[in-house]
Amino acid sequence: MSNITLTMIKPDAVENGYIGSILNEITNAGFKIKAMKMTQLSVADAQKFYEIHQDKPFFSDLVEFMTSGPIVAAVLEKENAVEDFRKLIGATNPAEAEQGTIRQKYAEQLERNAIHGSDSNENAKIESQFHFSGREVF
Ligand code: GTP
Ligand code: MG
Repeated sequence: MSNITLTMIKPDAVENGYIGSILNEITNAGFKIKAMKMTQLSVADAQKFYEIHQDKPFFSDLVEFMTSGPIVAAVLEKENAVEDFRKLIGATNPAEAEQGTIRQKYAEQLERNAIHGSDSNENAKIESQFHFSGREVF
């Protein structure tokens, strides 16, 4: 599964009306949508999804933000998907994101940075299974 990654269009970008624009960026960059849904994470969902950050000082703010409104989750396919998608979305802090990246264009700030991308092939698989059952992935 080295050719898939999991994305979430985060609550800020959904609220700001960027779902369509961001999906357009993603498909124009050559990613194929294998699964997609609009949903809202519960506190338990967000704590589980970001459990790697549970000891960080920003964890409670991160959980609060990620549960604050609906998100769009999707499984994306492309050769070298994880690395290429991280390049497409840009640095975690949009102030440091390269020109033309999704975070540079659509994110508000570090804590409200518009979009998630898996950070490894292993996590892409775990995160895809977190959001989607087998028959929701095409
Ligand atoms: P995700 O795609 O959401 O996983 O972001 P990332 O992989 O670029 O960053 P990381 O997994 O390290 O952090 C998860 C989220 O926590 C980020 O998207 C930020 O919104 C937030 N975050 C990361 N580092 C900091 C920090 O130093 N301070 C604060 N306040 N928030 C942070
Ligand atoms: Mg991350």
